[in-house]
Amino acid sequence: MQKISIKKITAREILASASYPTIETTVTLSSGVIGKASVPYGVSAGSHEASVIVDNKKSRYGGRGCQKVVSNVETKILSAVRGKKIKNQRELDDLLTALDPSPRKTKLGGNAILSVSLAFARAMAVEQKKPLYRYIKQSLQSPIIKNRKQKIKKLPVLEYSIPRPMMVVIEGGKHGENSTDFQEYLVCPLKNIKYSDSVRIGIEVYHALKKVLKKNKYNTNVGTEGAFVPSGIKSNETPLKLIVEAIELAGYKPGVDVGIALDPASSEFYFPGKKRPYFLACENKRFTALQMIKYYEELLVKYPIFSIEDGLDEDDWDSWTSWCKKFGQEILIMGDDLTVTQKKFLEKAIELKAINSILIKPNQVGTLTETLNTIALAKSSGFYTIVSHRGGGDTNDTFIMDLAYAVGSLFTKVGPSRGERVEKYNRMLEIAEEVGR
Ligand code: PGA
Ligand code: ZN
Repeated sequence: MQKISIKKITAREILASASYPTIETTVTLSSGVIGKASVPYGVSAGSHEASVIVDNKKSRYGGRGCQKVVSNVETKILSAVRGKKIKNQRELDDLLTALDPSPRKTKLGGNAILSVSLAFARAMAVEQKKPLYRYIKQSLQSPIIKNRKQKIKKLPVLEYSIPRPMMVVIEGGKHGENSTDFQEYLVCPLKNIKYSDSVRIGIEVYHALKKVLKKNKYNTNVGTEGAFVPSGIKSNETPLKLIVEAIELAGYKPGVDVGIALDPASSEFYFPGKKRPYFLACENKRFTALQMIKYYEELLVKYPIFSIEDGLDEDDWDSWTSWCKKFGQEILIMGDDLTVTQKKFLEKAIELKAINSILIKPNQVGTLTETLNTIALAKSSGFYTIVSHRGGGDTNDTFIMDLAYAVGSLFTKVGPSRGERVEKYNRMLEIAEEVGR
């Protein structure tokens, strides 16, 4: 393949969905072709994620400005890569990671590095006259992708022709004040139907849920991801009842047409050192890990839940192993804060048999190539991948949808409303039309 070089990189502060700045970067190749990308940040980020460097200058955006990383891109990164002959994505990303080999990319900022990596990918796709998803697919090198063939009892389909929506419809925890302890309740159209129909079904359930919430005297304001945040809710189970009612009201069969997924994001209610470290404030209940698992088990019996992400704390590894041993044939046991899209944590999870699926967020690791390396390992180990937005502050950038399609992700986790979320569904609708799904 012909080598290319980078002529120019510019970056700037833009606003992310939660109205704090993030970075948007534009890469210009020697041919004059440009590519632009912006990066999101999380609000309940795992503690091992790649860093999001902010200015810490209280006089601007309460310390959350991004001038420092903008300058890192335009000076340190640009001077290290400008004019160098680059063969492919891997070569650029190797250069970037060599510039900041710290474990969490704290020298230049995970946000600075990822913005360059993704903008370069966009430019290269244009250069090679390919849709972005095709360029990403070609960047996903060996090991050979092998999808899981093992049956998950509560998930009727093993593979989809295109990633399906895993739509957040109720949010609590750090995403919505005075609501549930669990961070996300999600609905997922399960059948292998036309992509546009699966989006429609998810959205119809979301609208039906609004009616169900109103009927039950809950407010219908939305949180950071565009899902409802019913305040004053007294149990983490209640949303499940309401969602089942909404699925039926929309005319679908719970567990057959539409399944439910949970992201308790339990690191947020885990208090290490306590005898019963898991604390569900809205129910005033304290649990050991075993009791927490028992709590989930009761929910699994009563509701069509087929996936639980971060059901246990990000450092509670031993409990994850027992959890996955017991339920790994029944539902998706998914790591997010546990694995933070990084190969080294996924390797540990494989060794400890702690999960059977992994959430993928490029900004948890910091370059496209490292994201693809983690995905390749997950796939060759027979794990499912689910590509996800960020709850904290996302942007209109739809890169993750091209990524999800390129790697054959099972689902995409994205909220059901707000511009920066629907833009992502709209991009996948476009891809689906292009590829005839
Ligand atoms: P985030 O949370 O706000 O950190 O992106 C989303 C999640 O935990 O999946
Ligand atoms: Zn999560």
